[in-house]
Amino acid sequence: MALLEMRDVSVTYRTGGLDVPAVRGVTLSVDSGETLGIAGESGCGKSTLTSTVLRMQPKSATVTGEVLVDGKDVTTMTWGKVRALRWAQASMVFQGAMHALNPVQKIGVQIAEPILLHDKKATHASADKRVGELLEMVGLPARRADAYPHQLSGGQKQRVMIAMALACGPQLVVADEPTTALDVMVQAQVLDLMASLVKDLGLAMVLISHDLSVLSSACDRIAVMYAGQIVEEGPATQVFDSPAHPYSGALAGAFPRIGDARFRYAPSGLPGDPPFPGEVPDGCSFHPRCPRAIDRCRAEEPALLQLTRPGADRRAACHLAEVRA
Ligand SMILES: Nc1ncnc2c1ncn2[C@@H]1O[C@H](COP(=O)(O)OP(=O)(O)O)[C@@H](O)[C@H]1O
Ligand SMILES: [Mg+2]
Repeated sequence: MALLEMRDVSVTYRTGGLDVPAVRGVTLSVDSGETLGIAGESGCGKSTLTSTVLRMQPKSATVTGEVLVDGKDVTTMTWGKVRALRWAQASMVFQGAMHALNPVQKIGVQIAEPILLHDKKATHASADKRVGELLEMVGLPARRADAYPHQLSGGQKQRVMIAMALACGPQLVVADEPTTALDVMVQAQVLDLMASLVKDLGLAMVLISHDLSVLSSACDRIAVMYAGQIVEEGPATQVFDSPAHPYSGALAGAFPRIGDARFRYAPSGLPGDPPFPGEVPDGCSFHPRCPRAIDRCRAEEPALLQLTRPGADRRAACHLAEVRA
């Protein structure tokens, strides 16, 4: 059974008398031991979608559909059950490791806090021991528990955030742009760490990034989001190496893989911006920016369909997806 299953999830923000449909009918699932990447430009709804996993969306948001964690729907469970789920079953790693830690508290104390809150049997001594194990798990010496955040580098702080997310032994970890603020070398180390934790601990992980090349090496599968919807989903290497949707192709081209000769003579970018949630055009939401759009794309919204081309284990929402094979 999938550890995380989202069924037809939509999220609409109500602001200033206006409805902002930020996520529109997303269906996806993640198994234990698997990393799903979610890619897409800023504003495509990635954070909004994943905020529903721990019911962290603001009060102004209305969520429809089902968000099942280990078979239980987070959108309808009591707040008591949601609190029990947070940390212990599912946890989050956020982008801003630099600022998310308390500057006046030693990191060991901060990692121990959720352990002491969630495990009624935990003592200060047992929590300290667990903190040491967690720090070593993320590649830091146990004695660093005595450090204050300002005594750590950016990459080390992000490792501490990961240790904290793992503190209560969750089965599911959602990481929202966990490496975006880090330099390229440190980013690769942190991603390797996360990938090995997924395999060693049998976790299910959702990894969000605007950078498709980062996801292609760190994930098993990738879902590409555009204007609040999934436009392509499939094995990471297939989506990156032979994208079926022109938007995935543009994302792959915008973030070249270093050392990959294919990108050397074909620098590419994508002009324009994704539409605002309330102003999504008719037909295919991507058609105004799509170099391959035909009349049908302007008139008819493409469904997210399984590709029939040989060897493809993918879904794509594009009238031309099969033609590109
Ligand atoms: N609290 C909010 N109230 C109203 N609109 C929001 C709120 N949070 C996000 N949005 C809008 O929802 C859309 C999706 O945002 P977000 O989920 O943050 O995208 P991403 O994570 O892909 O960058 C954006 O257009 C954004 O402006
Ligand atoms: Mg975001």
